[in-house]
Amino acid sequence: MKSALITGITGQDGAYLAKLLTGKGYSVYGTYRRLSTPNLWRLQDQGVFGKVHLIPADLGDFGSLGEALEVSEPDEIYHLAAQSFVEASFETPVATGDATGLATTRILEAIRQHCPDARFYFAATSEMFGDAGSTLGRPLKETDPFHPMSPYASAKLYGYWLTKTYREAYNFFAVNGILFNHESPLRGLEFVTRKITNEVAKISLRISKKLRLGNLEASRDWGYAPEYVEAMWRMLQSRKPGDYIVATGKSHTVGEFVEKAFEVVGLDWRKHVSVDKRFFRPLDVPTLTGNPSKAKKALGWAPKVVFDDLVSLMVKTEVDRWRRWKKGERFPWDAPNYPSESRILTRTLRM
Ligand code: NAP
Ligand code: GDD
Repeated sequence: MKSALITGITGQDGAYLAKLLTGKGYSVYGTYRRLSTPNLWRLQDQGVFGKVHLIPADLGDFGSLGEALEVSEPDEIYHLAAQSFVEASFETPVATGDATGLATTRILEAIRQHCPDARFYFAATSEMFGDAGSTLGRPLKETDPFHPMSPYASAKLYGYWLTKTYREAYNFFAVNGILFNHESPLRGLEFVTRKITNEVAKISLRISKKLRLGNLEASRDWGYAPEYVEAMWRMLQSRKPGDYIVATGKSHTVGEFVEKAFEVVGLDWRKHVSVDKRFFRPLDVPTLTGNPSKAKKALGWAPKVVFDDLVSLMVKTEVDRWRRWKKGERFPWDAPNYPSESRILTRTLRM
């Protein structure tokens, strides 16, 4: 049985990847950090809460990362943990630089010491291209120039280069997945697609009245997260390590997303949306569209869920959640709590 370690298993991609890998028969380990409010609802949502081993680790803590590798003895490592919200990276640039950038050195060094033969996936990002897409006027390829436009993007670019460095210097099987935006009902509420779909559902059920947004002109290449974690896995199964863009090849503006989302519940967006300066960033990538040809050819990966399907499935899920809430059901994100075993097993939660 293969063993996989997922850093950031409590995030959107971590939960879908844990589901994919447990389904393939892997023994799945994931790192989580102590928070004042436990954040394990996505694992529960995906039905893997009791099937994965949770290991306490923090990106700032070298020893805990080494211990995670020792405990899991991984064949494959998916390094997903990061401060992933671009807007927050302008507010906490140093902390973002540490968690999203420098921590890549910590995990790669820990791998060099503990398990240099393990295969390594780094969660790179389309944000590294910045406005290269606007300049070139076509979907971006792996060979296009980078121009990061946020502390987050700069930190990821550091991680991207370091991953390449360890591949070249130490012969690591280390890959960069340059993933464009991917969304789902498990997205954090601060990201624009989930913010929109959540508010649209509340407005349609008369729980809320207004949706306040920032830049409606920005456009993004939005895909469906469960399909993107499949691409991560395929990258680690290939014969040689490389860097791959994962995208749909089509982009839409935030305004188009809003219009489509209100359409799903039969409302006119103009009556409910206002633009609020607070949600503008000091600098914003105007447009991002990726060309996934290399991933299609080399990995046999292609997206199936297109923009309209994605918006519709996200809105419908939120409507269902808020309907249940109105009937007195608890939010899935209120439950679960840490399992009782966590009080006994201080290092690893085997549930
Ligand atoms: P996410 O939902 O924000 O998950 C991030 C994960 O990192 C969470 O498990 C979080 O733990 C963990 N984390 C953050 N800081 C940490 C720290 N100091 N120590 C330990 N763990 C920490 O992000 P996602 O959407 O799943 O994305 C996964 C990765 O892909 C991220 O690296 C992101 O930057 C990158 N990426 C995402 C996209 C996208 O569109 N989703 C596109 C390109 C690249 P908590 O749950 O405790 O907060
Ligand atoms: N979050 C947010 N909130 N964004 C808004 C809002 C708002 O109220 N109004 C407009 N936007 C615009 C942002 O300015 C940005 O141009 C766009 O919506 C998308 O914002 P996010 O959903 O926060 O995502 P992101 O594109 O900045 O970053 C995501 O994708 C990257 C890949 O391209 C994150 O998942 C990153 O971790 C990931 O690397």
